[in-house]
Amino acid sequence: MPQSHPNRQLWRDVTLFDGERTYDAPMAVITDNDRIERVCRMNELSDADIADLPVAGQGGVLTPGLIDCHTHLVFGGQRAGEFEQRLEGASYADIAAQGGGIISTVRATREASEDDLYTSAAKRLQGLMADGVTTVEIKSGYGLTTEHEAKMLRVARRLGEQYPVRVVTTFLGAHALPPEYKDRKDDYIDLVCNDMIPSIADQGLADAVDVFCEGIAFNLDQTERVFQAAHKHGLPIKGHVEQLSHLGGASLAAKYNALSVDHIEWLTEDDVQAIAESGTVATLLPGAFYTLRDTQVPPIDALRRARVPMAIATDGNPGSSPIFQLTLILNMACTLFRLTPTEALQGVTANAARALGLSEQLGSIQPGQRADFCIWDIEQPAELAYAIAPGRLRQRVFDGVITHA
Ligand code: NIG
Ligand code: FE
Repeated sequence: MPQSHPNRQLWRDVTLFDGERTYDAPMAVITDNDRIERVCRMNELSDADIADLPVAGQGGVLTPGLIDCHTHLVFGGQRAGEFEQRLEGASYADIAAQGGGIISTVRATREASEDDLYTSAAKRLQGLMADGVTTVEIKSGYGLTTEHEAKMLRVARRLGEQYPVRVVTTFLGAHALPPEYKDRKDDYIDLVCNDMIPSIADQGLADAVDVFCEGIAFNLDQTERVFQAAHKHGLPIKGHVEQLSHLGGASLAAKYNALSVDHIEWLTEDDVQAIAESGTVATLLPGAFYTLRDTQVPPIDALRRARVPMAIATDGNPGSSPIFQLTLILNMACTLFRLTPTEALQGVTANAARALGLSEQLGSIQPGQRADFCIWDIEQPAELAYAIAPGRLRQRVFDGVITHA
């Protein structure tokens, strides 16, 4: 007889999407404390199992907790004015060249107190959680001094301590050139490599290091220096690459075994081979593509052929993707990039976990994984991508505890 454990719970008669595929038969998921203990067909459950286990849920679609693997959730201010400028014809690059764009958020973020940043980011985080997110990556990149970058990352860590959500942090000091370093990009990269990364790594504030490798940001040499500094301090890397032009950042990132390369509208066939060989995830950000009215679609077919895992994320930020709803991004990935609904769902579960280097614990419904999952009031998983509709989340389970019902 199995021992009954007060913290074992049963979700029964669910339609299961396990992070890779949807099962035909009605399924059961059993948790033990904060872990998934067993996943089986309903008809494999014994009478004793059913008698022993408290039923925590019945019916609905069960998916892994959603993972938003690329966000800039912590920032000061907003950029609605810039939105209007773009509607009148200005480009994202034009606005950046005039000292707007990322730099205008840098000003507002430097001025904001740590508590103000926490309060504004908490609202966005709660929105994501109400949409089924159980893990979120949050980048720095609007401080651009050692002190202000650390401030942003502390806010991100604190959000993870205060809310039932996993927060993974990424240091993005090489996001833009701060005005005080005008015409001295290499000096700023010195600061990033010699001061910021050592200090942030020492304080344990970042889980990875990212760079914006682009004409309006940092070139290949500068990007490589940041990757080297990250590795020297034991941190994995990722990159904002090939978004507005092809610079070679993706292949460079592959050389440094990047966890992911993100945006990648201009990725070439050679780049696809390089990231396939390094096991790097391709993170697609349809929200930025949509907001910037981009027309260069990432090479989805080539990524499929090379079996590169594709993740998708909100890229939630005040400029290029002021979108803080991951289920909307599921729809955009299908409509704009022609992902199948299954690929889109893999992109916010199993592949998003890979993009964060956490696939051993997160992103799929399997014994031993963290008990992070969602129950949805829908008939089949594809509906999450098909309809843009709030209010479908019935239960959100984080570490085995129901946090939304
Ligand atoms: O991922 N590409 C660069 N960085 C962000 C945009 C940040 C901003 O515009 O504030 C992105 O799109
Ligand atoms: Fe981004």
